[in-house]
Amino acid sequence: MSAHSMSSLTKTDCFIEGHWVPTEARFTVTNPATGDVIAEVADADEDLTQRAINSAEDALHSWSRKSARERAELLRKWYNSMIDNKQALAELMSAEQGKPVPEAAGEVEYGASFVDWFAGEAERMDGDILPVVDNSKRVLVMKQPVGVCAAITPWNFPNAMITRKIAPALAAGCTIVVKPPQLTPLSSLALAQLASEVGIPDGVINLIPTTDAKTVGKTLATSDKVRKLSFTGSTGVGKVLMQQCSENVKKISLELGGNAPFIVFDDADVDSAAEQLMACKFRNGGQTCIAANRILVHESLKDDFVNAITQKVKALRVGPGDKEGVDLGPLIDTDAVDKVQRLVLAAKSDGATIETGGHVLSDLGDLFYAPTVVSGVTEDMEINNEEIFGPVVAISTFETEEEAIEKANNTPFGLASYFAAKDTARIFRVSEALEYGMVGVNTGGISHAYNPFGGIKESGVGREGSKYGLDEYLEIKTITLGGLG
Ligand code: SIN
Repeated sequence: MSAHSMSSLTKTDCFIEGHWVPTEARFTVTNPATGDVIAEVADADEDLTQRAINSAEDALHSWSRKSARERAELLRKWYNSMIDNKQALAELMSAEQGKPVPEAAGEVEYGASFVDWFAGEAERMDGDILPVVDNSKRVLVMKQPVGVCAAITPWNFPNAMITRKIAPALAAGCTIVVKPPQLTPLSSLALAQLASEVGIPDGVINLIPTTDAKTVGKTLATSDKVRKLSFTGSTGVGKVLMQQCSENVKKISLELGGNAPFIVFDDADVDSAAEQLMACKFRNGGQTCIAANRILVHESLKDDFVNAITQKVKALRVGPGDKEGVDLGPLIDTDAVDKVQRLVLAAKSDGATIETGGHVLSDLGDLFYAPTVVSGVTEDMEINNEEIFGPVVAISTFETEEEAIEKANNTPFGLASYFAAKDTARIFRVSEALEYGMVGVNTGGISHAYNPFGGIKESGVGREGSKYGLDEYLEIKTITLGGLG
């Protein structure tokens, strides 16, 4: 099949029972760079959510009974189709989400890599035969799919956060209903189109875009037909869903907010640390849950580090995602811009210094925020305690290793953390002391399909990606065979 164009991949209805299902109610999806409407999308309600759940339930029997090899082959076809259609998927994502097209193409590859990875994992889903402890018995441990799953995904990674949930679910033999984000539903609908074209059977994947996240989320979380819910988003919403899932003791994975520290120790290489910080801070314009949020720099390196990072930040080019040479696109909406501006101005009025940026780039449009460096941040400032979710580097200082660790851990969140250091003993000591699900040491890049991704404390439960990501969609069954002695 020849590759799609962006317009032939722009689907705007719900995807249920393998068909495009329109609704009378529609909502608009706009391009954050221009404000232009790019699509009018179907708006699912509670009835349609129930229909999607029934569709997934009807498809479960035959999908779960396909051999692991058959499921893996279909996943590999889906992976190949994503790669063949990378350009169209990237243009669509950039139009609805704002990230530059080359960065969006990188996300398509990242998203597809989960499909490839879990195609492999489907074929490695072995169980156990336990050692004999009673000669009259043998015990087998078998892994089985959880059943119908539901996923609720965020706008910041419109492709990868969908595939990171659908691929392990399908690999395990589960079927799924996905509520994609209201702001960026088009990337996920395009993925459903490709899945259908490569032969993933009707009802195995169902997508229900909506403006009524509360009702649809509650319907998915409380349905007794749905046996597992996976959510990526805010800690506040995650807590509500966790409560709702308790109604029928559903299996749950939550990837929630973060407040990632990035520590630069006195033995770090300043330029390399600044380079790594750029990678994890400015990916997607700072709109990631694992973006470095609190930059803790050893007092002795403060001037050098502030200087190095400020030079790099000043060199970033901001503009619409479809313009060549752009590093950073717009923020997602006015709420995001207002939050970033509020945090920066509050830090300034509390005594911090704006080294560069600190304002909206209004000649480009209302949603473009200047890449910003703020130094002289202290622990009590709001900017140090809230997830910035924007292109702002907030720098504070410390004097001892113990102080850095204590400050880094002083948050209810525990998703990602980073540090730069050379001393091997320190690298182990600090890695072990940081209360986080993920630690990046001398690197700002920690996301790969083969890495377990997830947090502790109020950043969530469960892991995505990696060999552990499949377990979230499996139940363990113990079979005891008696009368053998
Ligand atoms: C996120 O934190 O928002 C997801 C980022 C990733 O998978 O790297």
